[in-house]
Amino acid sequence: MVRRGTQAILAASIASVACCQQVLDLSGVDWTLTSPNFSYISVPAKLPSQAHLDLYAAQVIGNPLFGLNDFNLRWVAFSNWTYTSAPITTLSQNATSTWLVFNGLDTFASIDFCGQHVAATNNQFRQYYFDISSILPSCNQTTLSINFGSAPIIANQTAALPDQETWPYGVEGLFEFPNRQFIRKEQNDFGWDWGPAFAPAGPWQPAFIVQLGANNIYIRNTLVDVYREGQQNLLLPDQMKDWVLNASVDYLGSLPAGSSLTYSLTKANSTTLSGLLQNVTLVDVELWWAIGQGPQILYNLTLDITDGNNSTIASVTKRIGFRTIVLNEWPISQDQLDQGIAPGNNWHFEINGHEFYAKGSNFIPPDPFWASVTETRIRQLFESVVEGNQNMLRVWSSGAYSPDFMYDLADEMGILLWSEFEFGDALYPVDQPFLDNVKEEVLYQARRVNHHPSLAFWAGGNELENLELYLVNQSAPDQLTRYAAEYETLFLDTIVPILFENSRSISYSPSSTSNGWLSLNFSLPQPITERYENLTESSIYGDTDHYDYDSSHSFNLSTYPVGRFANEFGYHSMPSLQSWRQAVDPSDLYFNSSVITLRNHHYPAGGLFTDNYANASKGMGEMTIAAQRWYPVPNKPDPLGNFSAWCHTTQIFQADYYSSQIQYYRRGSALPERQLGSLYWQLEDQWQAPTWAGIEYDGRWKVLHYVAKDIYQPVIISPSLNVTSGDFEVWVISDLWSSISATVNLTWYDWKGDQLNISTPYSTNVSVGAINGTQVLSSNIENTISGHNASDVILAMTVSAQGSLPNSNTTQTFEHTNWFHADRLSNANLVDPGIQLSYSNSTSTFTVQATTGVAAWVWLDYPVGAVLNFDANAFWLKPGEQKEIGYTVKSDTTGGKWVDGVTVRSLWNNTVPWGY
Ligand SMILES: *[C@@H]1O[C@H](CO)[C@@H](O)[C@H](O)[C@H]1NC(C)=O
Ligand SMILES: *[C@@H]1O[C@H](CO)[C@@H](O)[C@H](O)[C@H]1NC(C)=O
Ligand SMILES: *[C@@H]1O[C@H](CO)[C@@H](O)[C@H](O)[C@H]1NC(C)=O
Ligand SMILES: *[C@@H]1O[C@H](CO)[C@@H](O)[C@H](O)[C@H]1NC(C)=O
Ligand SMILES: *[C@@H]1O[C@H](CO)[C@@H](O)[C@H](O)[C@H]1NC(C)=O
Ligand SMILES: *[C@@H]1O[C@H](CO)[C@@H](O)[C@H](O)[C@H]1NC(C)=O
Ligand SMILES: *[C@@H]1O[C@H](CO)[C@@H](O)[C@H](O)[C@H]1NC(C)=O
Repeated sequence: MVRRGTQAILAASIASVACCQQVLDLSGVDWTLTSPNFSYISVPAKLPSQAHLDLYAAQVIGNPLFGLNDFNLRWVAFSNWTYTSAPITTLSQNATSTWLVFNGLDTFASIDFCGQHVAATNNQFRQYYFDISSILPSCNQTTLSINFGSAPIIANQTAALPDQETWPYGVEGLFEFPNRQFIRKEQNDFGWDWGPAFAPAGPWQPAFIVQLGANNIYIRNTLVDVYREGQQNLLLPDQMKDWVLNASVDYLGSLPAGSSLTYSLTKANSTTLSGLLQNVTLVDVELWWAIGQGPQILYNLTLDITDGNNSTIASVTKRIGFRTIVLNEWPISQDQLDQGIAPGNNWHFEINGHEFYAKGSNFIPPDPFWASVTETRIRQLFESVVEGNQNMLRVWSSGAYSPDFMYDLADEMGILLWSEFEFGDALYPVDQPFLDNVKEEVLYQARRVNHHPSLAFWAGGNELENLELYLVNQSAPDQLTRYAAEYETLFLDTIVPILFENSRSISYSPSSTSNGWLSLNFSLPQPITERYENLTESSIYGDTDHYDYDSSHSFNLSTYPVGRFANEFGYHSMPSLQSWRQAVDPSDLYFNSSVITLRNHHYPAGGLFTDNYANASKGMGEMTIAAQRWYPVPNKPDPLGNFSAWCHTTQIFQADYYSSQIQYYRRGSALPERQLGSLYWQLEDQWQAPTWAGIEYDGRWKVLHYVAKDIYQPVIISPSLNVTSGDFEVWVISDLWSSISATVNLTWYDWKGDQLNISTPYSTNVSVGAINGTQVLSSNIENTISGHNASDVILAMTVSAQGSLPNSNTTQTFEHTNWFHADRLSNANLVDPGIQLSYSNSTSTFTVQATTGVAAWVWLDYPVGAVLNFDANAFWLKPGEQKEIGYTVKSDTTGGKWVDGVTVRSLWNNTVPWGY
């Protein structure tokens, strides 16, 4: 059935003949960028755009991402920027109404049309529309001019208003520009610990002039909500119920009498259209699944608005999917207790009634300037997500709401997007104008994206309950009640009613990390009561967020959190030499050069300082100490070679640490915590700098992305060492939805690759249940390897399993290999593995072979000019073992010549003076 939403079509009183509408896309108009602060600057501009991009294109400024331009370009952020159109000559003079429609203005804009002031805006995330019908008749010079104020100055002015809200010291996460929480602008534009602070300004989204006839409307936004009958947010839907499809449109203009809404639904990828449907409940729809779970079936829903004479006056098509996705935060049931699950509450996602293991990472804005982010860039990034065996991204708040094309790609590729409202690492004002502004933002964005089957979840903001309320409690415990109440005013009482009125299909939590809800009551306007610290001992609640920069803890599993789901964890590493070359002068290419150090924003400056050496050096030191503590570190006479090898070693540590945590969380699927998700921090970079990313700014994979790809495979074999007790276990873990039967091999070697006589079972057959793990070895490491020198003991573990993917009847083989070393690699008796690399033109594959020893962390590297990923990398080889490796090219400016520049190294190369 189709129900009309609250904003659906209502018949208007005037009846007359529908007429044409004219929509002028303002990207097709010539624009000029000027500044009232600098009379000499006047450059051609684009729309959509941001001032930095147009200034760079005109060579007024250099590449914002180069060197220390982050600091040098602050004058741009402190200035006003005016976008002025050329005279618009194509406007009709006989329209009934004329509108300006902006899908996004960043952020404080004063808009003039024909020299007359139209309006001012103050929210980057709202769609604005203004009726300019009365201006047009008296207009001689039809120019549009948009004057953007300086967000940092306006944020300061807002903070300084009389009676403005304040918070205890330290509650605002202060990176560079202060006072970001007072304005509705991308929060990381003011700086973050993985990015620069440009505070850009400009018309960052498309804009239009819409002209309407008397019986004509323009659809500016559309809501489609697809859910099971009776479903409500956070309730587990009954999969036996019919689907409900609720659609409504937001429009400009007025409807003629007798208008109605009709719809048609067709399978999006099918050539045979099923035509107009009268009754959606009769359709036997096919379900949409995330990648690895089943097909991504999409349908086109076309909504036609017809007048009394049955002629269509407006039409909109949205591609939708039929799926339920819910965040299950319900109490652990008796059934679950009987299975050995610890009491407390669930915290995991269920799709179409199936729980699943969420594997993925956190997405940040892929560029400091959204106006330069193209569909092609996101497609390449998402291809890496899918190639990396990830099925969910947490689209971190404090960036921007994702563009439609990003959700469209995720719909097609089966990537679940945990989405968030754009608040984070601060508490926010709750005065009425601020709340009213947020309401408009939430209404627009929630309606805009709800139809995408990839939309998995809404969170209110980043690290609010676990960090912000915690910080208040630390610095001003007597004021916690006040600030917690304000937190609820915004993140529960303001956001929830709007979201739940528009969507019954998507779950919500006020904070990305939280202990979940305590109770739900849908007879209240706002049904959620949060649990906070209302915890019962030895019960487990909520999701976890874990950072520990003391690298002596990194492989001590008891320092990792026990929770139901891990939504953030990580450690930073250097980008590759190839990426550094894009961003710094050759003379700065050494580890602690001032430019490289100052591009490390961990730890942040905490203000507009350009000499953040003290904090940045701490972050540099953390990477250095971690590398030295756990691996042999390079000491090469060639400075560039040494720099490159050091960058790479920090990446190995990062990947090793994440892999250890991911395996720990995945083992948790078989333990009382019933852990069902691992999303590491962070998927990708927005510039070239030391960060937590697994994918560098241009798309190049760091060691992390390869290692995550390996360890996110459906079936893995995983060692686990308790460094205190010496308890050593090996597990087979599967996130397939049916049980598997597996054969496991365990073989002990020394570094030369000679087999050691260590008496653990060599070959074992086990079965592993659905989304579960089976322990295949339990021993004590001291006893097991006694008589051998730990620095010369390594264990190769392989599993070969028969099983099938979810929603598939085909049995297939899943294989995985893992390695364990009894001592840290910095102590290991590494030997020269004699690695050989060759390339076959006929098969377009590389072959790598170790000949004289075990090769740890084998790494294929490729030169600048191309972006590609190898099918496997950062793996281990035993002597005599050959690995054939294909690759996927994402972009190439070398005409294929990159193949000749591919090199191979392993950890042993850190111990020799030559090479990179
Ligand atoms: C304005 O009038 C012209 C000429 O009569 C007609 O072609 C056009 O469709 C009209 N435009 C609108 C918006 O009514
Ligand atoms: C437009 O031009 C006319 C005649 O030149 C003038 O009288 C009128 O004031 C102008 N209108 C505006 C808004 O500038
Ligand atoms: C700068 O922009 C702000 C916000 O639009 C506006 O209030 C102010 O008047 C502008 N200043 C100048 C000099 O244009
Ligand atoms: C905003 O205020 C901070 C101090 O709170 C100051 O450092 C900064 O320069 C101010 N920014 C502007 C644009 O006035
Ligand atoms: C569904 O919509 C998409 C995008 O609007 C379009 O490319 C595709 O051809 C449509 N498919 C059908 C079957 O209408
Ligand atoms: C729609 O389907 C329902 C349930 O099958 C049926 O009772 C109803 O008559 C149908 N309505 C139309 C207009 O076909
Ligand atoms: C749609 O069809 C194209 C071409 O047959 C295919 O490549 C693509 O994977 C299909 N997409 C979906 C979502 O089924």
